[in-house]
Amino acid sequence: MKLDVKKGDRVLVTCALPYVNNIPHIGNIVGSHLPGDIFTRFCRLYGLDAIYIGGSDEHGTPIVVAAEKIGVTPKKLSTKLYRVHKEIYNWLNIKYDNFSRTSRKIHTETTQHFFKKIFRNGFISEEEMLLPYCPKCERTLPDRYVEGTCPVCGSIARGDQCEKCSTLLNPSELREPYCIVCHSTPVFKKFKHLFLDLDKLSPKIKEWIKNNKIMKESVKNLALGWIKEGLKPRSITRDMKWGIPVPLKGYKKKVFYVWFDAPIGYISSTKEWAKKNSKDWRNYWKKGKKVKIIHFIGKDNIPFHTIWWGGMLLANGTYELPYNVAGLQFCNYEGQKISKSKGVGVFCENLSRSGVSSDTWRYYLTHIIPENKDTEWKWKEFQDRVNNELVANIGNLFYRLMSFINKNFKQGIKKPTKFEKKDEKILSLCERKKEKIFEKIWEINIRDALQEILSISSSINKYFQDSEPWKLIKENKKECEKKLYVCANACKDLSILLYPYLPETMKKIHKILSITPTWDEIGRKLKSVKFEKPEILFKKIDDNEIKKIKEKVEKSKTIEEYFGKRGRDGMITFDDFAKMDLRIGRIIEAEEIKGSDKLIKLTIELNENEKRTIVAGIKKYYSPKDLKNKQIVFIKNLEPRRIMGIESQGMLLAAFDKSKDKLSLIIPDKKVENGIKLS
Ligand code: 2FM
Ligand code: ZN
Repeated sequence: MKLDVKKGDRVLVTCALPYVNNIPHIGNIVGSHLPGDIFTRFCRLYGLDAIYIGGSDEHGTPIVVAAEKIGVTPKKLSTKLYRVHKEIYNWLNIKYDNFSRTSRKIHTETTQHFFKKIFRNGFISEEEMLLPYCPKCERTLPDRYVEGTCPVCGSIARGDQCEKCSTLLNPSELREPYCIVCHSTPVFKKFKHLFLDLDKLSPKIKEWIKNNKIMKESVKNLALGWIKEGLKPRSITRDMKWGIPVPLKGYKKKVFYVWFDAPIGYISSTKEWAKKNSKDWRNYWKKGKKVKIIHFIGKDNIPFHTIWWGGMLLANGTYELPYNVAGLQFCNYEGQKISKSKGVGVFCENLSRSGVSSDTWRYYLTHIIPENKDTEWKWKEFQDRVNNELVANIGNLFYRLMSFINKNFKQGIKKPTKFEKKDEKILSLCERKKEKIFEKIWEINIRDALQEILSISSSINKYFQDSEPWKLIKENKKECEKKLYVCANACKDLSILLYPYLPETMKKIHKILSITPTWDEIGRKLKSVKFEKPEILFKKIDDNEIKKIKEKVEKSKTIEEYFGKRGRDGMITFDDFAKMDLRIGRIIEAEEIKGSDKLIKLTIELNENEKRTIVAGIKKYYSPKDLKNKQIVFIKNLEPRRIMGIESQGMLLAAFDKSKDKLSLIIPDKKVENGIKLS
């Protein structure tokens, strides 16, 4: 392949904006965020003017459904999860130049402006749609809000698709449909909506995709296949409150379909970045600005980034078309599909607590980037790759070299004046291979490029081993010095090529060597080499540790837990538990309640100034005089209730054996202060 970029060229890299109704798992990371990050880092290294743009996709039904389920507003849900997402990407050193939100004002303005241009250009039409309307909720129901019986297989299906038999459905096709919120039967009514005329745009979309030279065949073929089947106008408006208002008369109460505003999010996030950095966003987007736009996305998003987004851009007419749509495949987990609800996968909110460095995660995750086919996370492979490649091939090379030089050449090593052919070969290794490596990156063969770099590392290792510096140091110090210099210089270059993959660790090496990682630095010879006592770069992981890591990262927090609501599998969250104010108190008075054969009125003392009245159904098991002066456990912050005309301000804790009709009050094992809180 002939590279069609040169130093200084502008490149805009984007990653599919994640919905914030969920927490990312490793499939999301390897499917777009990480490859986009490595790609951008390489572009920068190569000398391109590259930026990495991202953000959260906050509109659409999935967000509304998730928010309603836990009883918060979509805005509140997205605000919290936006932060969680950002923390995860930061921890993994996925370095976004800007990570925006589609709920921001700048995005609303950009979307409305984008739409108006398409409208003026004549690519928007109006049509009537037969849509389900819930008379009880008084609203039209989005597809996912309607469920019913699948007309094909008879199972319960959602209004957009039957998960059992995969049939794509319209809500009107469901038998016995019902609203998922209130279970009423919807009525089908005609509503006016706006449509993007993909049929009119089809020839132009086809031309763009056909002539594109860099898109992978698999992506191109998918897109061309859909075009061949015939593109139909698609609706871009929805009857919902949450979303971007449509700036057109008669449509003000509607919002844009989430897939209309989401890709425009790439533009608004760039605008936000430009504002913060005093740059002109137009240079990265507008037609004729010679920018190369590359979208990293999962395969389910391919239709939206080829046909749909391509169509939107063509209809607008003022923007550059994507240079490449890097559509990645899926990543599975130990032979199964990743599923949060089933707890199948590695969930990223726990990575930072795993005891494994972010570079170690990045290293293995790079190996499972599904660039050309589906990949799979395997724990055994994770352990082997970390131990045999990251530690044995890369980490040990740096460590051995640095400690050997530190031990034997405290004052450092000067650049030798002469090299033999064998030495020159190792010295120039990275320089000779760097162009080929960048080409692989440019074609989105990020894993292949890493393999190439690993083979360089193996060659340097072999050279070190064959040179036997531990013998040479005794026999020929000068020669030993030269060999070590060659290794150190080659490792310096290697550290630059590894930088996009392992940024945190390689940054340390660059600091030690006092170099700035640039493309031109690769091949340059250091004047001298000196090392302080090095630290170990990567640690081996044994079977026991694997078990521990697994336990930590296989668990995932439910969205409810983030809001202090219900936990997984009916468990209560810690927050729920912490809400209970359980105390020790002393019964200072106990008296029977007239007219009741069950109840006793108790006065509980917490301290001199604080007393509580509790009505307890324990008369059958305790007489008032047995109760007096007992220390008991009770819940203090229970809502008061009136029982037999008396306000009961809490509840005693007791163990009740129904089968034997025995009741025993819970009392402290030792004497403790009254009023003490239980924890
Ligand atoms: O599939 C998804 O998670 C979408 N939120 C991706 C949107 S990509 C872009 F258009 F913003
Ligand atoms: Zn079905």
